[in-house]
Amino acid sequence: MKKVLVTGGLGFIGSHTVVELQNEGFEVVIVDNLSNSSENVLDGIIAITGKKPVFENFDLRDKPKVVEFFAKHHDIAGVIHFAASKAVGESVENPLLYYENNLGVLVYILQELQKKGESNFIFSSSCTVYGQADTMPITEDAPVKPAESPYGNTKQVGEEIIRDTCKVNPGLAAIALRYFNPIGAHPTVEIGELPIGVPQNLLPFITQTGIGMREQLSVFGDDYPTPDGTCIRDYIHVVDLAKAHVAALQRLLTAKNDTNFEVFNLGTGTGSSVLEVIQSFERVSGEKLNYRIAPRREGDVIQAYADTAKANEVLGWKAASTLDDAMESAWNWEKKIRKGKEKTMA
Ligand code: NAD
Ligand code: WQD
Repeated sequence: MKKVLVTGGLGFIGSHTVVELQNEGFEVVIVDNLSNSSENVLDGIIAITGKKPVFENFDLRDKPKVVEFFAKHHDIAGVIHFAASKAVGESVENPLLYYENNLGVLVYILQELQKKGESNFIFSSSCTVYGQADTMPITEDAPVKPAESPYGNTKQVGEEIIRDTCKVNPGLAAIALRYFNPIGAHPTVEIGELPIGVPQNLLPFITQTGIGMREQLSVFGDDYPTPDGTCIRDYIHVVDLAKAHVAALQRLLTAKNDTNFEVFNLGTGTGSSVLEVIQSFERVSGEKLNYRIAPRREGDVIQAYADTAKANEVLGWKAASTLDDAMESAWNWEKKIRKGKEKTMA
């Protein structure tokens, strides 16, 4: 059974990917410092798959610990690297935290893989690297634009660090996956996105407004050059996203490609506006959502949705869920985690 390291494996996307890896027969080792997750997520994973991943709780910024880990787990066949800080606003206020956590850690892990000779590495990147792309849908060869935040810069620079490392390490095979907007939860509602703090993202704010935790959703602008005036994004079910990681790993483990560094866009290929997402919630929940039109949010791009042809053809992967499917899973998750809890304005 091939052993896979999943860093940040108790996080939102990582935990859903651990489930899919276990479903495909991989042995999973998770490293997570619980800075944005909880050890209870392990119980959710086990409830779904019946398999307990190995979990090591330490901070990947601790380089001696990273070296010790790879010496102990010398039989790791692949690494899927989710662990990072991901709050755009926080990255503006505290850039060094982001450069250390999102790039320093990446270097430590690549240094260990470099020692191994043959190794496989998957990196969590983001469509944020495109900024406001000139044409829709966005292909992988769309130009990378100057980052709008230190967070976005860590994804751009992260990809370059991997590209440069692969150039001088032919035994290292790497894939960067540029996620569009991951949403939803596992259909069993055993795992989902943990509600930590006031949500910055649209989906958790919608479901928390729907459940009564938030008074009202602010729609950040309806005067954009789009059909209904609100921004357009490519919302992809987190389970579809997780399955793409298994497909990417299997490509690295089997195919001997003419290049050892590839990039793939992961989205549905369909754009949805903020108002369309609200309408999806109202269809799925049967409830009206309380929202108002508010001023635009600084840094928002007008639209971003993926051309998924490359992932479809090369990875043999395609998103299967609709926006309503993802919304239904998100709403079911919200209802489950709020069951019996006071509806406080956290
Ligand atoms: P998340 O915060 O839920 O998961 C990240 C996990 O990594 C958390 O469990 C956290 O505790 C852990 N972690 C962070 N720093 C660590 C460290 N130094 N040592 C050990 N563990 C550490 O985030 P997510 O939404 O699952 O995102 C996973 C990855 O995908 C991130 O790299 C993120 O930048 C990227 N990404 C996320 C989105 C999104 O919308 N969620 C979109 C594009 C890219
Ligand atoms: C989506 C749309 C908002 C909240 C961010 C990061 C990106 C990645 C994914 C990590 C936008 C609108 C939102 C609200 C709103 N994260 N909105 N009211 O901005 O596309 O991407 O998360 O990698 O790096 O930038 O996602 O969910 O924040 O916003 O109107 O309360 O919803 O203006 O148009 P975004 P989002």
